[in-house]
Amino acid sequence: MSTVTCIAPVNIAVIKYWGKRDETLILPANDSISASLDTDQLCAKTTVMASPNFKEDQIWLNGQKEDIRNPRLQNCLAECIMLFLVRKRAGNVTQIGQWKVHICSENNFPTAAGLASSAAGYACLIASLANLYEIKGDISSIARVGSGSACRSVLGGFVKWSMGSLSDGTDSIAKQIAPPTHWPEMRVLILVVNDAKKKFPSSVGMKRTMETSDLLKHRIKHVVPERVNKMERAIMEKDFKTFAEHTMKDSNQMHAVCLDSYPPFTYMNEISHVLVDLVHLYNEAVNDTKVAYTFDAGPNATLYLLEENTPEFMGVLDYFFPPLEDTLVEYKKGLPIEAAKPSKSLLNKINAKQQSPGRFKYIIYTQIGDGPKVLEDSKNHLLNKEGLPI
Ligand code: DP6
Repeated sequence: MSTVTCIAPVNIAVIKYWGKRDETLILPANDSISASLDTDQLCAKTTVMASPNFKEDQIWLNGQKEDIRNPRLQNCLAECIMLFLVRKRAGNVTQIGQWKVHICSENNFPTAAGLASSAAGYACLIASLANLYEIKGDISSIARVGSGSACRSVLGGFVKWSMGSLSDGTDSIAKQIAPPTHWPEMRVLILVVNDAKKKFPSSVGMKRTMETSDLLKHRIKHVVPERVNKMERAIMEKDFKTFAEHTMKDSNQMHAVCLDSYPPFTYMNEISHVLVDLVHLYNEAVNDTKVAYTFDAGPNATLYLLEENTPEFMGVLDYFFPPLEDTLVEYKKGLPIEAAKPSKSLLNKINAKQQSPGRFKYIIYTQIGDGPKVLEDSKNHLLNKEGLPI
């Protein structure tokens, strides 16, 4: 029997992946760039166990038994076994490649938060399997076949996923642009909105955009290539203003191509748009670009900002989006966060409408972090000796 447990980060793109050039291999229509977030605040944790006693492969996600026949999952498992066998061909093939596996995975944040849990989940699964089967070298291309954005979560810091040009996808891999220590002042605020709308799956949305949007063609050909270069440079030079402007413009364009799809669809809601207005009004009031928003396939906002600017912006956020009194204890999660009371003159300059309390369920304050880690201590395993969830 062999057991491995790993944790892996959530990543939030600043240049979005939206559209596939190959649906089966999950090859993107453009390059994308993201940052991996600190696993202390948000992470997936996965245990994989291989044993000659197991009768069949099995998987449990967040306490629920799931269908192991999920094609994306099967592709990931097949790829890992294949790499294992290729590596072992030269030497003695150990039995482990023939053993069935049990997989148990959970997130340390509520799935209801609508965060990109599949990215962290698949990255964590692949990091665990790679360790189990002793797969060396790039693992981003294996994570990619689970979920596109997952390939960026196998690395820490700022990460670029190159779309590649080969039809077999072997050059569509993620690479680190800079480690988390490169820009230690960078902070991230995740604002989880109160919203009951059913999620429209990103893979379905992406396909529709790819098939029907003319604006996406323009984006892929004329916008993203240059923007990716500018973003990489902004990260290397720690130029927050450029980083922030392109982050916001790219999020806006991703949501614009969703509206340009036919039939159109939306992910942002009214609260998302009020927040967008507030960020722009705040940046104008301080005559600088201190905060950037970005939205994925849902209404929750992720804000990028520097540590030194967090207290002031937090004060502004608390003023315009007051939390409900009875949620105060649970409202601010993650790193400790101080809100500075905004001055009257700042509030007057912003001149936005104060929202009714409770527009956000909670907020998470975090930073840029490392890639997946193996947890050596067996106390961390999510499966017991019989291979069942603990
Ligand atoms: C909006 O990776 O969830 O988060 O490859 O179909 O699994 P599939 O899609 P997924 O797409 C998420 C896209 C996004 C933007 C991004 O992370 O770049």
